[in-house]
Amino acid sequence: MAFALARAASSRASHWSVKSFHSSSTSLHGVKHVGVLGAGQMGLGIALVAANVSKLPVLLLDTNEAQLNKGMKFMDSLLKKDIAKGRLTEAQAEETRSRVKTTQNMADFSNVDFVIEAVSENPALKATLFRDLAQATPKHAILASNTSSISITKIAAAAKGREEQVIGMHFMNPVPVMKLVEIIPGLATSNEVLRTTKDLAVAMGKTCTVSQDVPGFVANRLLMPYINEAIIAYETGIATKEDIDTTMKLGTNMPMGPLTLADFIGLDTCLAIMKVLHEQLGDTKYRPSVLLNKMVDAGWVGKKSGRGFYVY
Ligand SMILES: NC(=O)c1ccc[n+]([C@@H]2O[C@H](COP(=O)([O-])OP(=O)(O)OC[C@H]3O[C@@H](n4cnc5c(N)ncnc54)[C@H](O)[C@@H]3O)[C@@H](O)[C@H]2O)c1
Repeated sequence: MAFALARAASSRASHWSVKSFHSSSTSLHGVKHVGVLGAGQMGLGIALVAANVSKLPVLLLDTNEAQLNKGMKFMDSLLKKDIAKGRLTEAQAEETRSRVKTTQNMADFSNVDFVIEAVSENPALKATLFRDLAQATPKHAILASNTSSISITKIAAAAKGREEQVIGMHFMNPVPVMKLVEIIPGLATSNEVLRTTKDLAVAMGKTCTVSQDVPGFVANRLLMPYINEAIIAYETGIATKEDIDTTMKLGTNMPMGPLTLADFIGLDTCLAIMKVLHEQLGDTKYRPSVLLNKMVDAGWVGKKSGRGFYVY
């Protein structure tokens, strides 16, 4: 194959596979080119599914060149794995791969119809980028954020003149595997933008739910306090981390325990979400655990850094 499928698989590859859904026949309301902003674990997964399942050309932007290279290597390893398992032919994998281009320059988004932003969970960073996206993209382009918890209305306010076209499109991790997209209209989001966003999510093989624009929406309003409480249980010595994880995994039939899940999500992302819940809802029950803060300070942010509650 033209691309380097023979490269060593990234450590994340063992948990992901591309899966070839058939693209939906749903009309995409003129969405022909997708831009993905941020090539971390979520942005990479979103780009891959947009290219492989909805079969749209994708321009993947990250300011960090090393992250872009790492992401594309990871994409190659996922495609290689799907060829090996008979889920994709070599030709299909090559087509998918050829649909994804990379850039470090937002000016290259001048031709996209739909942007999905997946940069770090930082309100100030997202505001700056949506201000810039409103300038760099065509006037008709929809600007979606994959934020886990930040107000869509607030993000939209930064995209001056484009508020009606800003929406939350919250994918789950890992994107190629997880079937849900939570969709969050902001105060100004138009019904047409909501419809197009749902149709794109369906074309990407996903099932949609809609949430009000409240801190954490539905998924993280419920999930993050659970993870935070598991970290508090560990730091106060209620049980070992292994026993906390095994209790919840086997005791409540979860695919993985809360501390393992926190490592997969990224402890920096977990902390950022808890801060949004705590600040916006003002209830001490959402206070991030001291240990979570310390681990992020230490750079032990989970699987993506090689160390979190467990070592990878
Ligand atoms: N990790 C999860 O389980 C999960 C699930 C759903 C949603 N999310 C959300 O998705 C978003 C991304 O999370 P992630 O886990 O992929 O994080 P990540 O740390 O893996 O990736 C973030 C990426 O953003 C890039 N970035 C930072 N500043 C940038 C800029 N100015 N321009 C372009 N790129 C920039 C970084 O280089 C990095 O590649 C966050 O908003 C997060 O809350 C995460």
